[in-house]
Amino acid sequence: MKPLKVTSNFEVYDAVEELPETIQDLMKEAVLARDNAYAPYSQFKVGAALALDNQEVVTGSNQENASYPSGLCAERTAIYYAGARYPEAQIQNIAISAKSMKHKVDAPVPPCGACRQALVEYEVKQKAEIAVYFMGESGKVMKANSIKDLLPLIFDNSAL
Ligand code: THU
Repeated sequence: MKPLKVTSNFEVYDAVEELPETIQDLMKEAVLARDNAYAPYSQFKVGAALALDNQEVVTGSNQENASYPSGLCAERTAIYYAGARYPEAQIQNIAISAKSMKHKVDAPVPPCGACRQALVEYEVKQKAEIAVYFMGESGKVMKANSIKDLLPLIFDNSAL
């Protein structure tokens, strides 16, 4: 037996104003997208904005369903649309913002496990890392340089 230590790296920003201007703008797009969430069941709204290398920004928000598992998170709504609309483009950055209609969310809200798996597929596809910036409604913003920092030991097509 040999122990294996896996490390992840993150950056923590005290406020959105500390981010580069282009990322602040992307986060604003995520916040705008968040307003379009359809979240009558959880009352938890999430917005995601993707910056592509063709200068396009693709956004998404969570879309819920009376049959709960049929709903979809903001991150997957956005990345699947990006893949469908701009299949040749590279995704460079993702900004995510979450807000509860029931209480204040001032800590960063990272993407759920299923979204991490969906997102990492596109890093593998484009052979380039995607930086992820995530936050609540206010407060600190966290950055991962790669989805792999959020999802070590990924399952990908190398196993197939
Ligand atoms: N949600 C997202 O949109 N992204 C995540 O990464 C976590 C969860 C949504 C799904 C559901 O509509 C609501 O937040 C509560 O889980």
